[in-house]
Amino acid sequence: MLPSGIFTSALFSLFLLCSLPGTYSVNLVTLGSIEIFNAHEWFPSKPTVYFHCQGEERKTFLPDVEKTHILYTFKGEESWQPLTELPEEKCKRCGVYEHDVFKSDDTFDEWELCPADFLDGKYFRFIENEFNATFLCSNCTASAEQSQNTATRHDKGKVGYIIIICSFVSLILAAGMVAAYRFWQKRKRDQDQARFLKLFDEGDDLEDELGLDPVVL
Ligand SMILES: *[C@@H]1O[C@H](CO)[C@@H](O)[C@H](O)[C@H]1NC(C)=O
Ligand SMILES: *[C@@H]1O[C@H](CO)[C@@H](O)[C@H](O)[C@H]1NC(C)=O
Repeated sequence: MLPSGIFTSALFSLFLLCSLPGTYSVNLVTLGSIEIFNAHEWFPSKPTVYFHCQGEERKTFLPDVEKTHILYTFKGEESWQPLTELPEEKCKRCGVYEHDVFKSDDTFDEWELCPADFLDGKYFRFIENEFNATFLCSNCTASAEQSQNTATRHDKGKVGYIIIICSFVSLILAAGMVAAYRFWQKRKRDQDQARFLKLFDEGDDLEDELGLDPVVL
């Protein structure tokens, strides 16, 4: 019972380990902080700032950003986060805009937002007299991006390798487990036998002590 339980759990954990490289990352971009310098408004009214990427339906309004020259920082968990999701190796044309009721929206800046631009998961964008913002994407880090790229490029070969190594290790492990189980069984049997024989010996000793000769006649 016990060895087979260990055997199954070992195989199961190995299976989990082997299936890990199959997961891929999601490049979610959140806003870390923003400070706007120019409200683009003729009247001193509250600006309505939003983030938008071309080809996307959603405009992300930044409800808290109401004053210029104030640094707004975010946790990344706000109701309107994340801003967008980036493809693995492609940029998106995104921008920060100011919503206008009377005329067409003003543009703070519009640029190509690329996964490769994120350094240690951070991307600073400072446009003079417009804004200074920090965008976060923990899965977009340059190193992660690189390893991801190589992973996709060498995907087939690598996966094949991993499968071969994993099955090899599983086989060895399985053989080892079976051998260990056999050994354990044999040892148990030997022990039982030894105990049995010892019982016999003790029986003999008892007879000797009582002075009873073995019945030879
Ligand atoms: C990073 O990728 C993992 C999947 O590998 C995903 O679960 C996680 O939410 C992603 N994190 C961010 C911040 O995009
Ligand atoms: C922009 O914001 C970042 C992070 O808040 C800060 O480190 C940097 O000094 C700011 N740059 C300017 C020019 O304000």
